[in-house]
Amino acid sequence: MELIPKLFNLNNKNIIIAGGSGQIGFAFVEILLDAEAHIIIADIDTEMAQEKIKKSEIAQQSIDRLSIYKLDVSKSDEIQSFYQTIENDFGKIYGLINVFHFKGNTRKLDTGSNFFAAFDEYPEEAWNAVHDINLKGSFLMSQKALPLMKKNGEGVIVNISSTYGIVSANKNIYGNSGINSPVAYATSKAGLINLTRYMATHLADDNIRVNCLSPGGVYNNQSEEFINNYMEKTPLKRMAEPEDYQGAIIFLMSKASKYMTGANLVIDGGWTAW
Ligand SMILES: NC(=O)c1ccc[n+]([C@@H]2O[C@H](COP(=O)([O-])OP(=O)(O)OC[C@H]3O[C@@H](n4cnc5c(N)ncnc54)[C@H](O)[C@@H]3O)[C@@H](O)[C@H]2O)c1
Repeated sequence: MELIPKLFNLNNKNIIIAGGSGQIGFAFVEILLDAEAHIIIADIDTEMAQEKIKKSEIAQQSIDRLSIYKLDVSKSDEIQSFYQTIENDFGKIYGLINVFHFKGNTRKLDTGSNFFAAFDEYPEEAWNAVHDINLKGSFLMSQKALPLMKKNGEGVIVNISSTYGIVSANKNIYGNSGINSPVAYATSKAGLINLTRYMATHLADDNIRVNCLSPGGVYNNQSEEFINNYMEKTPLKRMAEPEDYQGAIIFLMSKASKYMTGANLVIDGGWTAW
């Protein structure tokens, strides 16, 4: 009976969830609060987090273990001053989850470049914006977290990639929706898997573990055509709910995974199995 809490409890550990206002990010917030962690949401959109907190029973119950900071992870000077504030406010950190990503509609491209453009006309500006956030943002957030993790004596970093960081996006499932999954998403997400391995091998001596979680697609008001095509391609015959990833994040952040580093945990209803 003692073993489960010993493995999974994150009692008062400071964990930063960068991108914690989003669909999967907020599911992480809720489950890690339930594991008694102190959660620090860092997101470019803090209003979205506030809205979700108002409606969340677990967030309301543990509001004294929840802090929110506005941060653009593509800006190194903002990241630097964010960690300075965290050091002043909390002293040290145990965990970091990089769950943000650029979707093209979270920050408008100044020139109106099309984030969803096809490969043969993919705009350089969109390529840069996606990599600046997804890949460089994860690098900078992790690099600049190190002093506070070393101060803590141990640390855990989790990067969030995607099935589309492992296999190509399947262009046949998007139909006539006018959207697809762009090349820059694929390359930035693939980069995160090897950034994870690099950090894992180079930070192990500092007692910092680094793993990656690669989710499959989540229901989010997509067209019926898309959902049907997606289900057809998925052995478990459905898209994911954000809650489908909560068990994995508790496992990765806790002692339950203490012999795991440099790995990529794939949770995709079987999408990449065939
Ligand atoms: N939802 C899916 O179907 C799916 C599938 C596979 C992988 N993923 C991955 O899971 C992660 C979470 O996905 P989601 O669906 O919850 O996304 P989401 O769009 O709901 O949330 C993303 C969050 O990142 C934040 N963000 C964007 N740009 C930022 C910036 N510059 N600085 C700080 N924060 C910023 C947004 O404000 C938002 O809160 C992403 O990395 C995504 O690539 C999602």
